[in-house]
Amino acid sequence: MSTISRIRVQAPATLSNLGPGFDVLGMAIEQPGDYVEAEWSEAPGVEIVEVRGDAGRLSTDPTRNVVGLAATATLRVFDARMSVSRPPGVRLWLDKQMPLASGLGSSAASSVGGALAVSELLGGVFGRDDLIACALEGERAVSGGLHADNVAPCVVGGIILIRSYTPLELLSLPVPEALRVAVVHPHTSVVTAEARRLVAERRFEIGQAVANLGQLGALVTALHRGDLELLGRAISDALVEPIRAPLVPGFAEVKEAALEAGALGCSLSGSGPSVFAFASSDDQATHLGARMAARFQEVAGLDSDTYVGKVNARGARRVEENE
Ligand code: HSE
Repeated sequence: MSTISRIRVQAPATLSNLGPGFDVLGMAIEQPGDYVEAEWSEAPGVEIVEVRGDAGRLSTDPTRNVVGLAATATLRVFDARMSVSRPPGVRLWLDKQMPLASGLGSSAASSVGGALAVSELLGGVFGRDDLIACALEGERAVSGGLHADNVAPCVVGGIILIRSYTPLELLSLPVPEALRVAVVHPHTSVVTAEARRLVAERRFEIGQAVANLGQLGALVTALHRGDLELLGRAISDALVEPIRAPLVPGFAEVKEAALEAGALGCSLSGSGPSVFAFASSDDQATHLGARMAARFQEVAGLDSDTYVGKVNARGARRVEENE
């Protein structure tokens, strides 16, 4: 058993679906990211000492907060698998750096942070698949169903395709060097569980499925070829975006503005309300972010947060105490 006493980890925000890939495509981004600190405790179980940055909205009850659920799952898996004694409990601090119900994978980031922090306390015993499984225990509790398209890229980094859920099988897709992302989070919220219910209640035409199959194949091809123009054209969703667009005031106008301003492609991130656009340079991504944020203000009176940058290739990681 490792003697490390305190651990700090960062878990990045993630964009999911990426247009045609409902529940099967996700991408980690550089900013924002949640921080989780963990230390051993003589009190059995998991204690959440403090949650910062959530405006008091999240519970510190470890059975009602995803960071606690994921940490508990990680300890449970360790105990079931390893015949090694460990200190009785863990204390956690969660520093939320991203908005809740934003479409940025906030619950996934906190879940992954909880799982990774405990794994690191235990000496870094768990690999990618175990961390994802433990983090999903948290994510599942809040999102109204099992979907791994935020948790998987949060753990692994890069762009992930979920080939299969049973068993879970992930494929890391190549990330074109020049690809940049602009993400705008308008100050409104969409509850993922409700947005998923809307999708689950709907019946789809075969033509809609055919359209998405073609785009998903094109998107994977574009990433392998490094073809940003094709990648942009493949950001097109005939299934879910039309159902959820009405949940985001101004979405149609913001998307139109992004495409007019030269975005390669643009869609909702996850269940929204965040909107992402792909670009081929830092300057273009900065311009798109500003344009989309201005449009949210013009048409819906909404202030926004804007994040611009590269794809996060590392995923969740241990960081120094002052980072
Ligand atoms: N794939 C999920 C959905 C992501 O669209 O419901 C939620 O963040």
